[in-house]
Amino acid sequence: MPRTLFVTTALPYANGSFHIGHIMEYIQADIWVRAMRMAGHTVHFVGADDTHGAPIMLKAEAEGITPQQLVARIAGERPQYLNGFHIAFDHWHSTDSPENVELSQDIYRQLRAANLIETREIEQFFDPVKGMFLPDRYIKGECPKCHAKDQYGDSCEVCGAVYAPTDLVDPYSTLTKARPILKKSDHFFFKLSDPRCVEFLQEWTTGANAQGSKRLQTEVLAKTREWLGNGDGQANLGDWDISRDAPYFGIEIPDAPGKYFYVWLDAPIGYLASLKAYCNKIGLDFNALIDPASTTEQVHFIGKDIVYFHALFWPATLKFSGRKVPDQLNVHGFITVSGEKMSKSRGTGISPLRYLELGMNAEWMRYYIAAKLNARVEDIDFNPDDFVARVNSDLVGKYVNIASRAANFISKYFDGELGYSGDAPKLSAHWQSATDAIQADIEAREFGRAIREIMAHADQINQAFDAAQPWLIAKTLAQADAAQRAALQHICSSALAGFKALSVMLSPILPVLSQRVATELFGLTRNFVWSDAGVLPTRINAFKHLMQRVEPTMLDALFEAPAAELASDVTPALVPGGEPIADIITIDDFVKIDLRVARIVNCEHVEGSTKLLRLTLDVGEGRHRNVFSGIKSAYEPAQLIGRLTALVANLAPRKMKFGVSEGMVLAASHADDKTDAGIYLLDPASGAHPGMRIR
Ligand code: 2FM
Ligand code: ZN
Repeated sequence: MPRTLFVTTALPYANGSFHIGHIMEYIQADIWVRAMRMAGHTVHFVGADDTHGAPIMLKAEAEGITPQQLVARIAGERPQYLNGFHIAFDHWHSTDSPENVELSQDIYRQLRAANLIETREIEQFFDPVKGMFLPDRYIKGECPKCHAKDQYGDSCEVCGAVYAPTDLVDPYSTLTKARPILKKSDHFFFKLSDPRCVEFLQEWTTGANAQGSKRLQTEVLAKTREWLGNGDGQANLGDWDISRDAPYFGIEIPDAPGKYFYVWLDAPIGYLASLKAYCNKIGLDFNALIDPASTTEQVHFIGKDIVYFHALFWPATLKFSGRKVPDQLNVHGFITVSGEKMSKSRGTGISPLRYLELGMNAEWMRYYIAAKLNARVEDIDFNPDDFVARVNSDLVGKYVNIASRAANFISKYFDGELGYSGDAPKLSAHWQSATDAIQADIEAREFGRAIREIMAHADQINQAFDAAQPWLIAKTLAQADAAQRAALQHICSSALAGFKALSVMLSPILPVLSQRVATELFGLTRNFVWSDAGVLPTRINAFKHLMQRVEPTMLDALFEAPAAELASDVTPALVPGGEPIADIITIDDFVKIDLRVARIVNCEHVEGSTKLLRLTLDVGEGRHRNVFSGIKSAYEPAQLIGRLTALVANLAPRKMKFGVSEGMVLAASHADDKTDAGIYLLDPASGAHPGMRIR
């Protein structure tokens, strides 16, 4: 029975570029969607940018642009990644859209009408300088337990204590360094603790969808059981604070001036907004798709960090606003790179964009990620050596190799005609049933298992080909009889029938390559569907080179990604007591600064200056340099003579009142605080000598 599916991936925050974690999720969903389409099902696959919230507002402000401009810039980057990795969303939208405003406000009104919204006065930290309530992540202070300084408002990274921001000793706002004050304000709460919600969620989380498969994976269900209790009505669900006070970049709450929806309220509604915009674009009836009676299956692919929102808030929001509830949550783990954990904002050491810019084949990545994925909530690791091995030995060495070996004989000796002298129906049935098994694995999101089975088939095909030694028959073909000719044709045709089936199996994973195989080699005018696997090919066109091997040096280049690209979305940290870390630079920026070891051969006061000392420096150039330095408050000239220090040697000479300064020595201090905390001249360890470059 053909099914209709509405499939989404988690909406990425619009304050940063995609990292490999996003790409992994999109590849997983895209493979699944393609597999469903190959079975004849209709899939509406949509995404959007998650645009609202304080971090985006503050980042835009720091850049001197509007949040809308920031969001538009990020949105402009999306297609190069999505197209680059062949991720075929039908539509990409934004939560900052008219559809989302309307849907969010409607849903809120419906929840209110269902008596599930409550107003409560709460007291929160407020930054009096910035004039805004502070999300916990912008509050730091001393841990109330171990007294470690500069700990976040929710937990201590040093001793692991968990607490409320109000428990911090000497709290400060990371935005302004001001001490936050407690301030009261009315907030709106979604009453998740209402018995109707609890009862519904107990039913929804434990239930199955129309296909009879569980809505939640076992591990996810176990997690929701912790939150919901075990059905004895003892759920421990807190009500959900869904409002934020201005200033906030978000959607206004109806009838509540100055109040906005918390970003997590309108973010998942963005799934519907995107579907709606897509329906409008192609003339589909959106309301019919999301009606509670609709048979459209709603499937969300998400990471394990956002289960709470998707397994509790989101189904309850939909249910009690009178809408269709999700049919399935497909939760995946995180991706580490060489075992290193990924940071949510910075991603990992691999930049997907650099991957593409280096000309690396996106299908290598799709294949590798698929090989690692399964239906459980497990983390996967990107390991460069493993990547090279799997792509080169499996994909190129085993799979592509079949076609390149067999096709040449067929083209050369049989003019492209295939022929089977054995039991053709049996061969056909074999490949169709093998492919059915792969289809089932992929639909069950057991991609790794599917790939292991596919490669086992590839091994068998290669072994059978080797055992038959077709090259020996070919060598003596001029003298060969008809039976030998038929044998050669059969050996090669069987290998190519197998290759065709493998290409069908790999289609969702390698959409571009499989399309080329379908059209260029087998002469189809469309992409493969599952049922093509059992149709034995009758002729081929000339074989064209299909896939390059990965060069291990490409992986080296990939890992040298410029830091700026990876960290462009990192808000510079505030160093306690000091100044914020400056904007990220690349190594190319850094090497422009020529830092050298210098010996202070002479040092004296500068007449008429309260700040400067005159230094005479030996930088190993066979001459001395004259440099003025504002360190008079910290050093007597005699203390410095003979010492080594560090010099910016290629700074443009600067003409000062007292003479020309030919460079700058390096010293540590707090920015505008040169007298209080002191100034400390940098000091290379002994053994360094003048002229050495510092890098
Ligand atoms: O965790 C995140 O990156 C969120 N932007 C995911 C939102 S998913 C959906 F609710 F929009
Ligand atoms: Zn602590």
